[in-house]
Amino acid sequence: MSASPPPPSMPLRVTRNDKIADGIHLFEFRDPGGNPLPQFTAGAHIAVRVPNGLLRKYSLCNDPAERDRYQIAVKREVSGRGGSINLIDGVNAGDELIVTAPVNDFALPARAQDFLFIAGGIGVTPMIAMIRQVLAEGKRFRLFYCSRSPETTAFREELGAQEFKGMVTIHYDDGDVSRSLDLRPILAERKNREHLYCCGPRPLMEAVRAMTDHWSPTAVHFEAFSDAETHKAGDTPFKVKLARSGTVLDVPTTKTVLEVLRDHGLDVPSSCETGTCGTCRTKMLAGEADHRDLVLADHERKDTIMICVSRAHSAEITIDR
Ligand code: FES
Repeated sequence: MSASPPPPSMPLRVTRNDKIADGIHLFEFRDPGGNPLPQFTAGAHIAVRVPNGLLRKYSLCNDPAERDRYQIAVKREVSGRGGSINLIDGVNAGDELIVTAPVNDFALPARAQDFLFIAGGIGVTPMIAMIRQVLAEGKRFRLFYCSRSPETTAFREELGAQEFKGMVTIHYDDGDVSRSLDLRPILAERKNREHLYCCGPRPLMEAVRAMTDHWSPTAVHFEAFSDAETHKAGDTPFKVKLARSGTVLDVPTTKTVLEVLRDHGLDVPSSCETGTCGTCRTKMLAGEADHRDLVLADHERKDTIMICVSRAHSAEITIDR
């Protein structure tokens, strides 16, 4: 499998920009000519070209059965690169933006019957589409939604509807880590061959990852939109040796191994490029990796590396390419 070509893009009209919780706005897009939009499945995202030029990915949160609109929920990220603030403050209903067709790196397996969703904050957005699809298919789910307070909780009213009774737990922690939801009893055993989907802040996903080492890796799924793990303060350059040709390439602090390989004309499989989908899994033959993914089990970390996010602790690593 190779890096998929970028999805086609299209101009869509913004038909809503409404505040739905503190710091969170719901956007709706429709085709300006009223044509049906490309179909999507639960877990899919679109990328939106915001007015300041940034291309930002957002999960679709409306019912996948709908063909006339896309809905996304956008959190005002004050510490981000300005994409969300630019969208919330700079875009009004009636504006047109370039939007890519939906892509799904977080899809629900067709044969699974039971799902466990764990969301933190704005990470609930793909789950809103997922619970619609799961119920429409006559399947079952449990949703645990961690949020700071009722005021900052998007979709609180929808999730309180009678149809979701007994399936949805919203946990408020007031931003106090000591009051976080205790995930251990929830994840202690995999009930009914559930598939687990988790999206939220990195510490939440890392905690879930650590507590599910005894689950089948194919039943645990993460999605991240932030590239916070790809480059961190204090990163150092290193070298990557390609075992098959003996070529040694420099990986500067500003690039990932994946990008360096691509720059040198190598056709490298990738998809999410946030360390969550598993596509870029690569055998590592020497050196010590600085693992930053949410895919690898502990026993795989010695000789496997996800080259879209992970770097090196050693001066050089050798990979099987
Ligand atoms: S491309 Fe998805 S984990 Fe690397």
